Amino acid sequence: MSDTDFVWTEQANAPKSGSVVCAWTELPDRTLHEVHFGGSEEAFKLLLFRDRDALHGYVNKCPHHWLTMNRRSDGEFMMWAEDELMCVHHCAVFKLTDAGRCIDGPCLGTNLVNVPVVVLDGQVLIGE
Ligand code: FES
Repeated sequence: MSDTDFVWTEQANAPKSGSVVCAWTELPDRTLHEVHFGGSEEAFKLLLFRDRDALHGYVNKCPHHWLTMNRRSDGEFMMWAEDELMCVHHCAVFKLTDAGRCIDGPCLGTNLVNVPVVVLDGQVLIGE
């Protein structure tokens, strides 16, 4: 699958625009947070990374082989730096504060798939 073949809105259990994700207060600054939509096997896994007042949303799929980037579904991410996520499979590193850009590893030059998120009245919602 190439980057252009992966359309997050077409994935199983992908949340619709306007869906409530969580409360803003549930997101500690500079900490990666994962939210699942749907059943465990087919869950859509959304990554959220708050950087002070900015919020970044990504699909938990590594663009190298489109695998989830944590070893288990209950969390446990490998952080290379405070805002850099390392995929557990082949060690690609993604800059969470820079559009999920891969800065090292086998898919250098690609990006994580962005999911638009907005904050409204203290709630994090899926954007358009
Ligand atoms: S699947 Fe992530 S680096 Fe290979």
